[in-house]
Amino acid sequence: MKPIPYGRQNITESDIQAVIEALKSDYLTQGPRIKEFEDAFAEYVDAKYAVAVSNGTAALHLCAMALNVKLGDKVITTPITFAASANCVRYCCGDVVFGDIDPNTYLLDLESVRSLLAASPEGTYSGIIPVDFAGRAVDLEAFRNIAEEYNLWIIEDACHAPGGSFTDSTGKEQKCGNGNFADLAIFSFHPVKHIASGEGGMVTTNDKELYERLLSLRTHGIIKSEDNYENSIDFAGGVDQYPLWYMEMQELGYNYRITDFQAALGTSQLKRADEGILRRREIALKYFDAFKNEPFILGQSGVIEGHAYHLYVIEVEDRLGLYNYLREHKIFAQIHYIPCHLMPYYRELGWEEGDRPNAETYYKNCISLPIFPTLTNEEQEYVIDRIHSFYA
Ligand SMILES: Cc1ncc(COP(=O)(O)O)c(C=O)c1O
Repeated sequence: MKPIPYGRQNITESDIQAVIEALKSDYLTQGPRIKEFEDAFAEYVDAKYAVAVSNGTAALHLCAMALNVKLGDKVITTPITFAASANCVRYCCGDVVFGDIDPNTYLLDLESVRSLLAASPEGTYSGIIPVDFAGRAVDLEAFRNIAEEYNLWIIEDACHAPGGSFTDSTGKEQKCGNGNFADLAIFSFHPVKHIASGEGGMVTTNDKELYERLLSLRTHGIIKSEDNYENSIDFAGGVDQYPLWYMEMQELGYNYRITDFQAALGTSQLKRADEGILRRREIALKYFDAFKNEPFILGQSGVIEGHAYHLYVIEVEDRLGLYNYLREHKIFAQIHYIPCHLMPYYRELGWEEGDRPNAETYYKNCISLPIFPTLTNEEQEYVIDRIHSFYA
């Protein structure tokens, strides 16, 4: 049996051909394949606009900038996430306030958000960053209601959930990243994610103004639009119109562009995204059935409609023992996540053990099992057998 990681990319011959074609074309970066990827991705998640960027962290940073996060702004997120969900607020000098998680869903608990908001004077908080952790979609309709009440924006961190969805109060399916409830949503195309482009990320939105701002911030804050220039035609060197070379840097942005060949890979991968989710759901169902009656299981991701299953988490007794035992058997399970508020960087800012009890208890027990579309039945059975034999 080959080593089994918790996640693995799936690169096919058609992916390779798509990249080769891009490499043979006139563009390595900023070519037509970026817009193609953006359009295909926007369609996939049912959003109006998409902006492809160099990675998911850059996507979060640009979102925080586009929403004008600044010194002293307070933003709520979950501690059970990759640090980038919180760090984007710090890049803009805002303060991160961690809510707690719901121990059943592992997602940011709406009630903990509500109590944070209710405990502070109005206007204390500027936004919320809920995370579709493990691929389970946050109920963004509920978050939107509370955001309206307190005048907050929402960035949905949907890195784990392209293709995921929740059902709203009218019974309608709402896809992760569709922009109906969140102002902005972000995705990552890191190799362990559903769609891999090497490094890569995407922001989706239905807001045209935010979309245009993101396009400019992605490239240094430069705009190329006659109607919006601030300097005069005369200064620009034109006579009665701006010369063709002219452009303006109107605010401080970055180079967060993706390359054309990465976009080509992303588009090619996107064509198999639905297939990949179906396979992930099959794997999840099999884990659930294998463990549902086991006394050593304290909790698990379960079988949830709309779940995109980036991860399949089980909570167990003797997590360290299981982790090491699986490694001895070449199964590389992983822990997602060490609570973000207890990272030394955030401890420095005042966070302490005991601050977010549900997240901390979850961390003591959680372990993410191998789940990726090319995991074979035989490999999954081997993982399940090894777990049973550890607890036998
Ligand atoms: C929930 C979450 N947010 C943000 C990111 C950052 O994405 P990237 O690694 O593409 O910068 C990740 C990636 O690991 C993630 O899992």
